[in-house]
Amino acid sequence: MRKISYFLALCLSICLGIIACQSPTPEMKAIPIGIAVAQTSNVALLGQEQVLGAKLAETYFNDRGGVQGTPIKLVFQDTGGDEQGASNAFTTLINQDKVVAIVGPTLSQQAFSASPIADRAGVPVIAPSNTAKGIPQIGKFVSRVSAPVTAVAPKAIEAVLQKNPTIKRVAVFYAQDDAFSKSETEVFQKTVKEKNLELVTVQTFQTKDTDFQTQITNALQFKPDLVIISGLAADGGNLVKQLRELDYKNPIIGGNGLNTSNLFSVCKQFCDGIFIAQAYSPELDSPINKAFRSLYEQQKQQVPPQFTAQAFTAVQVIVEALGKVENPTSLPLETLREKLNAAILANSYDTPLGKISFTPEGEIVQSQFYVAQIEMDSSGEKGRFKFIS
Ligand code: ALA
Repeated sequence: MRKISYFLALCLSICLGIIACQSPTPEMKAIPIGIAVAQTSNVALLGQEQVLGAKLAETYFNDRGGVQGTPIKLVFQDTGGDEQGASNAFTTLINQDKVVAIVGPTLSQQAFSASPIADRAGVPVIAPSNTAKGIPQIGKFVSRVSAPVTAVAPKAIEAVLQKNPTIKRVAVFYAQDDAFSKSETEVFQKTVKEKNLELVTVQTFQTKDTDFQTQITNALQFKPDLVIISGLAADGGNLVKQLRELDYKNPIIGGNGLNTSNLFSVCKQFCDGIFIAQAYSPELDSPINKAFRSLYEQQKQQVPPQFTAQAFTAVQVIVEALGKVENPTSLPLETLREKLNAAILANSYDTPLGKISFTPEGEIVQSQFYVAQIEMDSSGEKGRFKFIS
């Protein structure tokens, strides 16, 4: 009896094997695109804005027929705020969810661990917010829609000097455990010297720090006319708050990690006046930006922020590049990923960030950048980014 059931089981598996081998690859019902950003941890202050941008793009492009009539389907994997979380999210999206491409992660610090995993697996990655030096150079499958620190950070110093031409003495603070912050501070410090300003002190902290009294006391001895901060939203917001509480009254520049309205709940009325350079303007006069802005405003009753616009753009690039691949849904996954990556790099896109394309290495080519100043209301609860250039 045991022998007979073994024989039957063997026959069944051989028959199933033959059927499986003979069936063509089933056509995809929806094209899976992975979104690996920080939905939890301190970094979610930035990641939440990215989740919304990606979802708006999914709605917008599926309403317009998806990819040659096939809808896209976003698959979310939370990275949390660290490298391990990002690597796990990427691995799951690649091997289990079988996505065609990944948008993520939130931090450059995470990208240097996670993006090589996708690159080795031949899965295209579009970084929606990694701005450190060296991101596209991770590998041929890695590109970004987030303009690098070299393109954006100097704009903030130029705008501050236009408004405050007497500034001479500059204090710089940066998070020394974060790849993006280290990269951005290098650009800030270089620009300070190029503008013939005096770099009076450089203070360091960690992204998980909450108390900055020692660094602030050290820096204020040098009587700076300008403070420049490279960190993330939670630490950066607390640093701004404590600078003001310790009576620092001169201008403050915040870097890209502070570029979120989620900062308002951290530094409240003390956020008022911070200068932050922008890679997106809600005022851009183009049909795609107006459509994006209107979708965002229906949900949030305010204008969209940069991180949301960049995440929308990353999904847009994947959708439009998929549209350039012949019969994408009938290709084996490995071939589709390869052809998609080539199409991403070869094409140009009219996005909420303006017209963009990529260098052969995957660096974004973008021409318009802006600077905004935070304006808080008298309650210190609500604020906005007022564009000044
Ligand atoms: N721009 C920041 C980074 O690259 C969020 O980490």
